[in-house]
Order: sequence, then C-alpha cells, then structure tokens
Amino acid sequence: MTDTAQTKPGLDVPGRGGKLQGRVAFVTGGTRGIGAAISSSLARQGATVAAGYAGNTERAEQFLAELTDTWGGDGREFSIHQGNVANPEDCRSSIAEVIEKHGRIDILVNNAGITRDRTVAKMTDEDWQAVINVNLSGAFYLAQAALNHMLERGTGRIVNVSSIIGEMGNIGQANYAASKSGLFGLTKTLAREAAFQLARSGKLTEDSIGVTVNTVTPGYVLTEMVEAVPEKVLDKIKAQIPLGRLARPEEIARVVHFLAADESSYITGQVWGVNGGQDM
Ligand SMILES: NC(=O)c1ccc[n+]([C@@H]2O[C@H](COP(=O)([O-])OP(=O)(O)OC[C@H]3O[C@@H](n4cnc5c(N)ncnc54)[C@H](OP(=O)(O)O)[C@@H]3O)[C@@H](O)[C@H]2O)c1
Repeated sequence: MTDTAQTKPGLDVPGRGGKLQGRVAFVTGGTRGIGAAISSSLARQGATVAAGYAGNTERAEQFLAELTDTWGGDGREFSIHQGNVANPEDCRSSIAEVIEKHGRIDILVNNAGITRDRTVAKMTDEDWQAVINVNLSGAFYLAQAALNHMLERGTGRIVNVSSIIGEMGNIGQANYAASKSGLFGLTKTLAREAAFQLARSGKLTEDSIGVTVNTVTPGYVLTEMVEAVPEKVLDKIKAQIPLGRLARPEEIARVVHFLAADESSYITGQVWGVNGGQDM
C-alpha cells in the first residue's frame, strides 16, 4: 500500500467492478476520511455517488473533482450536498435533493460522525447532545426519509457506520459510545420494519433484492479523527489489536460496498466488525 493510497482513499486503485452498476448512492460525510473511501469504492463498483458534507466546501469540491476525474469517464455525474445531519429539515431536504438530481436513491450510507471526548464527570449537556444529534439522530432522520422512497420502489440498502466503541465503550467517550451503540438498535428495528412493510405490500418475494439495513463497526482507522490521538495512546491501542495496526479507510469501504450490492439481499439487521480482531 502506497502513501498515496492512504491520503486519497480508493481513488488510485486501478480497475473497477460492476456490482453497483446503475445504482445511486448517498454517502453522508462522504467527502473525506472513511466516507471519501466509501464514496470512491461505491463509484468504483459502478454507482453514481452523491456525497454529503457539513461545511468544508473546499474539501468537498476538491473531492468531487477527483471522483469525477477518476470514475466519471463513462458519463456518470457525481454530486456533493451540504447539510447538517443533526437538523431533521436538512436531512429531509438532502434526500429530496439527491432524488431530484439523480432520479432515485438506492443506497444510503450514514457515515457522518463527530467526537467530543470528555470523561462523564466533565461532559457538558452540549457535548452529550451534539454527538447524539449528529451520530444517532442524523442516521434516523436520513433513514426515515430514504426508507419511504426505497419501500415504494421495493429495493434499497441502508448501511450505518457505527464503531467498535459502541460495542466496547471507552473512557472519555460516553456520548460517542452511546450514539454508536444506539445505531445497533436503530439498524435492527429499521431492518425488521423494512421487511415487514415490503411483505405487507407484496414486494417481499423469494428472488427480490429487497430493502436491507446493516451496520459496519470499524475499529481504529487512519483518518483525521485519529490524528488527534497522541502517539503514546495509539501505541497502546495497536498493542490491543491482534493484527497490530490501524485499519485503512478502504478496508472499511469494501465491506460497505459488499453490503450495498444487490447480491447481499439475504443480509439484514447485522453488525459487521472490521477491526483487526480487536473485539475478540
Ligand atoms: N476514524 C476512526 O478511527 C473511526 C473508527 C470507527 C468509526 N468511525 C466512524 O466513521 C465515520 C467517519 O469517520 P472519519 O474518521 O472518516 O471522520 P472525519 O474524517 O472527521 O470526517 C467526518 C465527515 O462527516 C462530516 N460531518 C461531520 N459532522 C457533520 C454534520 N453535522 N452534518 C453533516 N456532515 C457532518 C464531515 O463534513 P465536513 O468535511 O464538511 O466537515 C466529514 O465529511 C464516523 O461516523 C465515525 O464515528 C471512525
């Protein structure tokens, strides 16, 4: 793996697959970090990608140019969408905007996330609310808006990006851990409701692609979020990972595109760990 591959997730990987040909994907926080790797990997598999971001427009525009340059040669038009996922109106209008621009949404990846780390003793109400609102409520608002559209069409994929911290907890991350384990319950409920609604409308047939909802739980990944962690702490973390290193964003992204594929229609309500064996 070259340095370039780490700084420009997935973009420089030669060759392409066709698992997601003709599909439209919306990836929140899809213009940098793990989200950029997910956007690139979905594009590489043939999807038209709409990438969401919060406020870093320069970075988003740069990513859009890179994505178009790398995968847009076949005429696919990629797009970026600014919005705050903590705001329900922004979530609804982003979903509407993507449908308006691309005609549909087949895949929603709830990847946008933040941290505000402090011990419970020092955590403010605002620290608590901000993280829950972005990481958990945002996923709910977006899934709610996208699900109506997917159920009407009878097909769809929702993939939530949680974290190993949601499974294990972590000192200084009560808000983050609670938001990320909250995604497990949300995922399983959405998965059950999607199957129930499809069955009720007669769209859940033996060979249908269906509407599935799953969660990926990355361990520690080499992104800006982790750059803030001191070297000494990172060494301690690596010592707890059987594979002895952090994940590369592409290694999370490939599980997302696998779950997003039509062929993954029998996988729903699941939590997929990608963590180098850290939670064994
Ligand atoms: N990095 C890790 O080690 C790790 C491990 C496990 C799980 N995760 C999870 O993986 C996801 C991505 O993490 P990352 O490390 O790639 O993060 P990152 O590099 O900090 O990027 C976060 C992305 O989310 C967007 N975003 C942040 N707040 C938002 C909001 N309120 N509304 C809309 N978009 C918002 C950002 O937009 P702007 O660019 O405009 O700021 C950015 O595109 C998160 O859910 C995180 O919890 C990360």
